[in-house]
Amino acid sequence: MKTFKEEEYLSPEEFEILSNFIYHKSGIKMESNKTYIMNNRVQKRIRELNMSKPSEYIRYLRFSDKTGKELQELLNLVTVNETFFFRDFQQLEAFVECLRDVVERKMKNDDYSIRIWSAGCSTGEEPYTLGIILNEILDDIKKWNVVLTASDIDQVILSRAEKGVYDPRSVKETPEEYVKNYFHYDPDSNTYHINNEIKNLVRFEHLNLNDKEKMRMKRNYDFIFCRNVLIYFDDDSRRRAVEHFYSALNYNGFIFLGSSESMGRITSAFRLIRLNKYLVYNKEQDV
Ligand SMILES: C[S@@+](CC[C@H](N)C(=O)[O-])C[C@H]1O[C@@H](n2cnc3c(N)ncnc32)[C@H](O)[C@@H]1O
Repeated sequence: MKTFKEEEYLSPEEFEILSNFIYHKSGIKMESNKTYIMNNRVQKRIRELNMSKPSEYIRYLRFSDKTGKELQELLNLVTVNETFFFRDFQQLEAFVECLRDVVERKMKNDDYSIRIWSAGCSTGEEPYTLGIILNEILDDIKKWNVVLTASDIDQVILSRAEKGVYDPRSVKETPEEYVKNYFHYDPDSNTYHINNEIKNLVRFEHLNLNDKEKMRMKRNYDFIFCRNVLIYFDDDSRRRAVEHFYSALNYNGFIFLGSSESMGRITSAFRLIRLNKYLVYNKEQDV
């Protein structure tokens, strides 16, 4: 653990100012037990900007960061990006059940479009996992107009997601057969490269879930995955994001949250379905 000189350490007031900045921009709530992490990240920015102490950095954010570029740099450093392929396998089995129903219903109506959004996609393991599942479940994926949107607030991890290159840790929960069929292993770098067939299904975009203008434009999704993202928000910012998700979903569409997350305190707009031990949120058709 790095130790800080006293003048480098954020005072409680400075921590408060920075956490407010982060909250208003992103909805992410940095509690006071995150002081060490914040110090660490702010020190990195201070070094890169050749500054000497946090007060100088805060002044810079307040008065000179007209475009918000520096706040974005800070956000890139404070987001938690932990993820891996086939995370929460049983929940994905629940997704497959819902997917089969949606596909069957659509085919009856001669509708061969399927739209999925991975909101808070981190380095891409989640949307690529969904791409693999679609490829496995749809009889002939080429007959379908698949839109698989993957978005995140962190620009650094998005550029890693677009490359689709992973270390062995990322595929540790991936069934061997899928590793064989959907990745190319490079022994020199000990990395796994997602196949182009899956890579080309996913469109990455920079999107802040707290940006109401851009969120309003999201429409017509059959499935939204927002797993392990809203845990970093407070109830107000969660509610705002979930209201946008509601508008972005088609009737009969589904939302999947992380296994420790729930909408219980936030909204009763969705029908709650329990599939194995997982809760799935469904947007019911108005009657
Ligand atoms: C822990 S990762 C979860 C990744 C994946 N969904 C999963 O469950 O494995 C959380 C991601 O949410 C993103 N995130 C946090 N706040 C966000 C916001 N306001 N808008 C968009 N993405 C955000 C972070 O950058 C991070 O990549």
